[in-house]
Amino acid sequence: MGNKAGLLKADKEKCKKDGICAAECPMAIIEMNHGEGYPRLIPGTEPVCLRCGHCIAVCPHGALQHASIPMERCPTIIKDLNINHEQAVQFLRSRRSVRIFREKPVEKEKVAELIEIARYAPTAGNRQMVNWLVITDRDKIHQLAERTVDWMRFILEKGPEAARAPYFPAIVNAWDKGLDRILRNAPVLLVAHAPKEALNGMVDLTLSLSYLELAAPTMGLGTCWAGLLRGAILSRPQIKEALGLPESHPHHYPMMLGYNKLRYYRLPERKPPKIVWA
Ligand SMILES: Cc1cc2nc3c(=O)[nH]c(=O)nc-3n(C[C@H](O)[C@H](O)[C@H](O)COP(=O)(O)O)c2cc1C
Repeated sequence: MGNKAGLLKADKEKCKKDGICAAECPMAIIEMNHGEGYPRLIPGTEPVCLRCGHCIAVCPHGALQHASIPMERCPTIIKDLNINHEQAVQFLRSRRSVRIFREKPVEKEKVAELIEIARYAPTAGNRQMVNWLVITDRDKIHQLAERTVDWMRFILEKGPEAARAPYFPAIVNAWDKGLDRILRNAPVLLVAHAPKEALNGMVDLTLSLSYLELAAPTMGLGTCWAGLLRGAILSRPQIKEALGLPESHPHHYPMMLGYNKLRYYRLPERKPPKIVWA
């Protein structure tokens, strides 16, 4: 092994001193121009290292080890598992907001597996500060939907004109007929949340939820962003409290999860993108 100090160790047998790791390092804290020319962290820069693992991921020779990234948790990329462009386009376009769930509860291991996948979404500065609240108590989910309807009724009766969404009456009427158009009788409600110290917390958790929603169909599961509940949470701090979200976590978004009852046969069209080529 190369330099003894620091987080990064280069295997002298394998390292070709090509400097790829140094070029790749987002913090520019790997140097090649000392001693025998093997890569090392510039002394004193350990606290700056993002622990993103790019140095070990990009090394074609498998020559680097990082003290805080266990190699046994960094599998080699299997080329045969890569999807081609056409597959990627269909995969991304076929993601759907699922609103009709099977009665079947979702196994705890499956929820855990989805959250496990979601943690590979990018986070600003690789800070990985997204937390998860998993609600499987159907009564609690129903109560949250009910509190959302209460809030919608209030908006319809007393809210300012702008807040009165045209689709609120139909959703409230459906509720009165016993139909949950808020949380769709989902067996699971996930809430991704992040502390105020996570400066890009909302972006981070949105990306995590997006990863989760993309992975869900591969397990027969479907998701839907719970925007109505989110509106109610923002307007009524008691709902946030009832959810058990820490006060110090201002970033949060709820998402429904359950087994998808239906399947889709077509990829619906969307508006053309608005682009300025400058
Ligand atoms: C931030 C956000 C909030 C949403 N909130 C709700 C919601 O409260 N209820 C609902 O049925 N769908 C909700 N949706 C789903 C959108 O209506 C859906 O993404 C859109 O109609 C396009 O359909 P697709 O997701 O199947 O492509 C939400 C989506 C997003 C991104």
